[in-house]
Amino acid sequence: TRFAILASGSGSNAEALMKAAEAGIIPAEAALVVTDKPNAGVCERAARYGVPVAAFQPKTYETKAAFEEAVVHELKQRDVDWLFLAGYMRIAGEVLLTAYPGRMVNIHPSLLPAFPGKDAIGQAVAHGVKVSGATVHFVDAGIDTGPIIAQTPVPIDEGDTLTDVTARIQQAEHELYPKTAAQLIQEERKRVGV
Ligand code: GRF
Repeated sequence: TRFAILASGSGSNAEALMKAAEAGIIPAEAALVVTDKPNAGVCERAARYGVPVAAFQPKTYETKAAFEEAVVHELKQRDVDWLFLAGYMRIAGEVLLTAYPGRMVNIHPSLLPAFPGKDAIGQAVAHGVKVSGATVHFVDAGIDTGPIIAQTPVPIDEGDTLTDVTARIQQAEHELYPKTAAQLIQEERKRVGV
C-alpha cells in the first residue's frame, strides 16, 4: 500500500505521517508529497524522510480540472492508493474526488462540524469554547464537511493563549492522524484479505 500527502504549508502533520510510515506504525509507504507551494516547509521535511516531492503551480493550468489531472497523473504513475491531506489549502475538485473515492482523508484543527475553514483555532479561542480538538474526516466537495472518522478533544483552559491552544491541538493532530491512517489502511487490507 502506498500513500501520498497533499500539503501547502509547514508540513508538521505530513512529517508525523512520514515518521509513522518509516517506523512501520502505518503499514504503507509514504510514496509522494504533492504541494501547490514549491517553497513550503513540507518540501524540506519530505527530503529528510527521503520522500519525493511533486510541486505544481496551479496558476500555470487553464482550469482547476487540468491542474488536478496533472496531479492525478503523477499519483497514478507512482501507484498511490491513499491521499492524506495535511494543510492542503485548496478545495478538492471533481477530478481528485473521482480518482480517490473513499480514499481521500483530511485533518482539521477543530471538533468538526464546529469551526470549519481557515483559522479554526483562532475561531475557537475567540468564541471562548472550553473544548476544541482535532478531526480526521473523509474529503468531499465541501470545506471540511466530509464524513468524520476520528476526533480528539482538547481542553481550552482559562488564560490559555492562542499559542498554548495551537501547540496543544497540533500535538493532538500529530498523534491522531498517523493512528487513524494506520487504522484505515489496516481495515482495508483486512477487507481485501492481504
Ligand atoms: C493543521 O492544523 C491541519 O489540521 C490543517 O492545517 C494545518 C497544517 O499544519 N488542515 P502543518 O502544515 O501540518 O504543520
